[in-house]
Amino acid sequence: MSFENKYAPTDLESVVYHDDKTRNAILAYQQGLADKSLLLYGPPGTGKTTIAKLLPRAIACDVVGPDIRHLNASADRSFKEITKIKEFGRLASHNSTGIRFAILDEVDGLRSDAFDALRGVMDYLKGHCLFVLTTNYFDKIPDPIKSRCTCLPIKGASAERWLDKAVSIMKAEGYPRPPEVLMPLLKPREGDNREMLGVLEDVIRRIKQSDFDKVAACIVPQRPAA
Ligand SMILES: Nc1ncnc2c1ncn2[C@@H]1O[C@H](COP(=O)(O)OP(=O)(O)O)[C@@H](O)[C@H]1O
Ligand SMILES: [Mg+2]
Repeated sequence: MSFENKYAPTDLESVVYHDDKTRNAILAYQQGLADKSLLLYGPPGTGKTTIAKLLPRAIACDVVGPDIRHLNASADRSFKEITKIKEFGRLASHNSTGIRFAILDEVDGLRSDAFDALRGVMDYLKGHCLFVLTTNYFDKIPDPIKSRCTCLPIKGASAERWLDKAVSIMKAEGYPRPPEVLMPLLKPREGDNREMLGVLEDVIRRIKQSDFDKVAACIVPQRPAA
């Protein structure tokens, strides 16, 4: 399994945030201190989809699948999809918060009539359905949608912020390394959280390969029987 999947955050607290302000803003949802729809924006590989998917369970610990609708707006871009979300959001939720969750990933992909419809649907479902939108292209999102959301930039975290996690991953893989050894490896990958896991995966692969080569070099080939 790739490190991107193996070490993907399993809750909002294990996400590596680029600053404390963002961390606190996200965790406020978990603590029931925030309820406005969210627009997460920033470069690819920074954790927007990951956070969006973790939010429903963090807000409603007894949430069930039917309370969550996940739309990838780069594929499902039409007005009709937004109509379906309206129907979904109107139904009673199955969890104790009474809220349903609509995740609109890569929302910049919606056609303009779909964006117009979304504006109305967000108002109509206010208080019943929490919208979590993600995009790599903040500028492509119409102002009326932005104004209905808390807009949070999500950026790649610094090597310093990744260091604890990197140390614990190396340990979990059976190759513990101190922070000062890992720091120079992480530093050039700053800006792309996905790449932070990629470089660690690469390091482990190389260590295993060199261990293998050392062991293989010690094995004397047997002579074929005469
Ligand atoms: N902030 C982060 N903290 C921890 N892991 C992250 C973070 N951002 C990305 N990742 C890793 O990279 C993978 C891809 O992230 P993703 O949420 O799809 O990024 P985005 O939606 O911003 O393009 C995740 O599955 C996770 O393994
Ligand atoms: Mg994404």
